Amino acid sequence: MALSTLKFHILTFGCQMNEHDSFRMAEILRACGYEDAQSLDEADLILINTCSVRKNPENKVYSMLGTLRRLKDSDRDIIIGVAGCVAQQEGERILQREKCVDLVFGPDHYFRLPEMLERVKHGERVLETAWSEPSSKSRVDNFIPEEWLEAGHLDGCKAYVSIMKGCNNFCSFCIVPHTRGRETCRPLESILKEVEALVHRGAKEIWLLGQNVNSYRANEVDFYTLLDTISSQEGVVRVRFTSSHPKDWDEKLTTLVATRRSICNQLHLPLQSGSDRILDLMNRRHTFAQYFSIINDLKTHIPTIELSTDIIVGFPTEKEEDFQATLRALEEIRFSSVFSFKYSPRPGTRAAAMSDDVPRSVKEERLQRLIELQEKINREHMDSLVGTVQEVLIDSCHKKNPNVLNGRTGGYRPVKLSGSGLKIGDRVSVRITGYRNHWLEGVVV
Ligand code: 5AD
Ligand code: SF4
Repeated sequence: MALSTLKFHILTFGCQMNEHDSFRMAEILRACGYEDAQSLDEADLILINTCSVRKNPENKVYSMLGTLRRLKDSDRDIIIGVAGCVAQQEGERILQREKCVDLVFGPDHYFRLPEMLERVKHGERVLETAWSEPSSKSRVDNFIPEEWLEAGHLDGCKAYVSIMKGCNNFCSFCIVPHTRGRETCRPLESILKEVEALVHRGAKEIWLLGQNVNSYRANEVDFYTLLDTISSQEGVVRVRFTSSHPKDWDEKLTTLVATRRSICNQLHLPLQSGSDRILDLMNRRHTFAQYFSIINDLKTHIPTIELSTDIIVGFPTEKEEDFQATLRALEEIRFSSVFSFKYSPRPGTRAAAMSDDVPRSVKEERLQRLIELQEKINREHMDSLVGTVQEVLIDSCHKKNPNVLNGRTGGYRPVKLSGSGLKIGDRVSVRITGYRNHWLEGVVV
């Protein structure tokens, strides 16, 4: 069958980095002549891209593969691939267990999709999960090879740019260093080239992505210099970055965020727990007081800053008093949003060797209390925004009525607004008139 007639479907389960990888793979496949399939039934190539940060996604992958096997058995000549962290971890086992799978590859290999697919078409069952050294040319180059620069991932007027991959921190609960390998940073020149190509294609808002962006260092360029450079590029209207680690945050970064208009007044800074004892067991390498002092400094310099965080409840040995410390932290800091998770042991991590001793019912009850507290705090935030004027970047419009538009504030809150003569990518001042659920509503002033 000719390559150009084939259709693909990517099933993504996972984190932002995974979503980004899936977008990338889609762009690569389109560049090879593949078209998007509207459903699984229509697809000639199906890829499952799964992250393994929080739950046991292996089961999900195998049950999905059961469904796909039946699809493959039934009639068509489908290619089935498994990508991402689960592929990295399970590797050969997937090929052994599921004969319907043609292709298994880890996060470091997705740029080789065209070549791997060719091998599959020649009858090979492909397995690519080898690691290259963090500093090796292949690991650095495959952030995005030159030939794929034009295929950079654009989502409306937003674009995501990977600046580093992997992580060296080994937080005791986290699988990332095991599935994405050691930290590798991409040289500034390569990042700049991609940003320029994206701006040329219409990007206004650049997201710098990495597991721990503020530990970035490549050829003497640190994260401060990188952020300073990207945020002053012509055509870059807004910059956001995620995730940062509190231990690598410093006052210089606070000052840069406070003074550079294009850097959004928003920061995602994972706290994980408000208890020093738990933070230590998690190997986070900072105390709550140190975290709090960063937040105080940020709020002093940027009073309108919107903060978000990640919290894990039910880490091994977490007592009610530890959890109370986390609730107090939320009350004191008043995050705009909190991504909260029940602890789940991940194989091979240090925490997996500890007893998972907080009963599931207690984890669930703590999670619920935390969510309720955060909802109350969020409503208070939303109330305080009504009547203010916010700068909004328009990122989509209603399919039938082009005068109904959606955008985001600098603090990353979604806004519905009405106005005529506006288009995606415009930056406008909006008076907030009210809100519904998590959506602000407003009119252009
Ligand atoms: N259990 C629960 N949550 C986890 N996270 C990472 N590993 C685990 C785990 N084993 C959460 C952390 C991290 C976010 C991306 O996912 O809060 O910051
Ligand atoms: Fe995982 Fe910690 Fe690295 Fe984040 S900083 S990716 S939580 S090891």
